[in-house]
Order: sequence, then structure tokens, then C-alpha cells
Amino acid sequence: MLRIAVQSKGRLFEDTMNLLSEADIKISSSKRTLLIQSSNFPLEVLYLRDDDIPQSVASGVADVGIVGENEFSECGEDAQVISHLGFSRCRLSLAIPKECDYTGLQWFNGKKIATSYPNILRRYMNKHGINADIHVITGSVEISPGIGLADGIFDIVSSGSTLVSNNLREVETVTESEALLIGNRHMDKEKHAILNEMLFRFEAVRSAQDKKYVMMNAPKAKIKEITEVLSGIKSPTIIPLADEDWCSIHTVLDQKRFWEIIGKLKELGAQGILVTPIEKMIL
Ligand code: PRP
Ligand code: ZN
Repeated sequence: MLRIAVQSKGRLFEDTMNLLSEADIKISSSKRTLLIQSSNFPLEVLYLRDDDIPQSVASGVADVGIVGENEFSECGEDAQVISHLGFSRCRLSLAIPKECDYTGLQWFNGKKIATSYPNILRRYMNKHGINADIHVITGSVEISPGIGLADGIFDIVSSGSTLVSNNLREVETVTESEALLIGNRHMDKEKHAILNEMLFRFEAVRSAQDKKYVMMNAPKAKIKEITEVLSGIKSPTIIPLADEDWCSIHTVLDQKRFWEIIGKLKELGAQGILVTPIEKMIL
């Protein structure tokens, strides 16, 4: 049995639960106890506050955990980073009241900065030789300049809407962050085997994201040109049709280049283009 610590609510909760469910690891959502065992995979889920996850993994209370890079690098606990999960991306930035003239990082010399991430901020300021007064607040950091508690803030920025609604302006991006899978340094063989199976599934889910399975009918005379348009992707499947001048082409397309490629395929005479989502992809 492997025990994973996840955030009980907040920024990472939903994405984490989606990842487990897409990996076909069933976790009952009706029972909201602290510890829940999966009904079809040797995994137990321990729901914690994000701030408590790194320590629980470092100490072995949990074997692995999913936590924001921001939280992990702030707390400095000794656990290993197993993988970057690619979701819950955000940045940690310095922001100041929007009407202030910003003159560069020097602006912060002698200023008071409110944050929940004092260690990351202190390292950054030391590295740049800035002497700022770091004021630790645990919630609603963004309101502190407005009420005269600080000159600026250092906090998570995702969409930026929290800054806008508090009349703040982002002036420096200090670091970027995403969800991490971290692990205890002393897992036994059995736990490693379960972890590897879970990672294999996560990878299959991730490979399938942003990919579509595309099927189309195309004139045989255009096969060469069509395969050139599809280049970069693994060799497409070509299936003969009853009509000898036509064939069916099946391939996997990247969401990012999707419309561009579909446009070209239509110009080359492709018809009846079907697009379906891919649930998992084993490379
Ligand atoms: C963070 C941060 C901001 C907000 C920024 O809070 O403290 O309030 O997100 O996001 P935005 O740029 O999309 O507006 P979070 O939701 O993580 O909650 P917490 O600070 O209470 O943990
Ligand atoms: Zn938190």
C-alpha cells in the first residue's frame, strides 16, 4: 500500500483528484474522512493542508505527496521531487500599488513587503542585495498595501485578477510554480513498485492530453501530400475503401496545431473528417 498526501481543498485539489480519476484510481468522493483507500488500486489518500504536505512526506507519515512547487521550496523539507505534474501553474511575483512609479528592484530597498513565502523572498532579495522588511501574513496578503500594512506584496499570481481588484501591479516575477509529486527518501521495494505503476498511468494520461485522434477520407492521389502535412507525427494509418480512388487516413494530432493542419487537409481534398478525444496514450 502506498500513501499519498494531497491538498484537502484549494488550488491543487480539483486537478489532483482529476489526475487520479483519469489514471483509473478510484477514490470515493462521498466519504470525506482524512484517510481514504482506493477501491481498485493499492493507494491510500491522506487529505491535508498544503503547508503540511512536504513535512508529512519528509517524515514518512505519507510516502508521496502532491504539492505546489511554491509550498515545497518555501518549507525546505527534505523530500525528493519525483515528477513535475504540469498542472496548477502559477508564478510568485512582487507587486506594488498601481499608481507607484517603479524604478526597478531597488524600489524595494527599505520597503515593507507582505507575504506568506518569506523564505523564497528572503533568498531572492539577498541574492540581489536588496534590504527589505519582510512581513509574514498567512492569508489575504493582497489587501495589505491598501490598508497601510505594507508597501508591496510577494504572492501567487495566476490569472492576475486578484492583483487587479486590489489596485496592484505585478513588477517582478520571482519564480514559477506547478504541481509536484514529491516522495519520501526511504520507500521500500513494494512501495516503489506501486509508485512506478502510478507514474506509468500518470504519464499515459499526460501524453493523451492535448491530442486528438483524427480520421478522414482522402483521395488516393493526394496521400503523399497529406502525409507531408501530417509530418512530425508518427506514420499515419492508411486504410483502403470500397471506392478504389479513395482511402481512409487515421492519425493523432496535436491540439496546438489542430486548426492549421485541418485547414490544409481540407484544401487537399480530405472529407468526412472525424475528431475524437484520446483517453490514454502509451508511448
Ligand atoms: C492565491 C493568491 C491570490 C490568488 C491569485 O491564493 O494568494 O489570492 O491565488 O490568483 P489570481 O491571480 O488568479 O487572482 P490561493 O487561491 O492559492 O489561496 P490561499 O492564498 O488562501 O492559499
Ligand atoms: Zn497555503
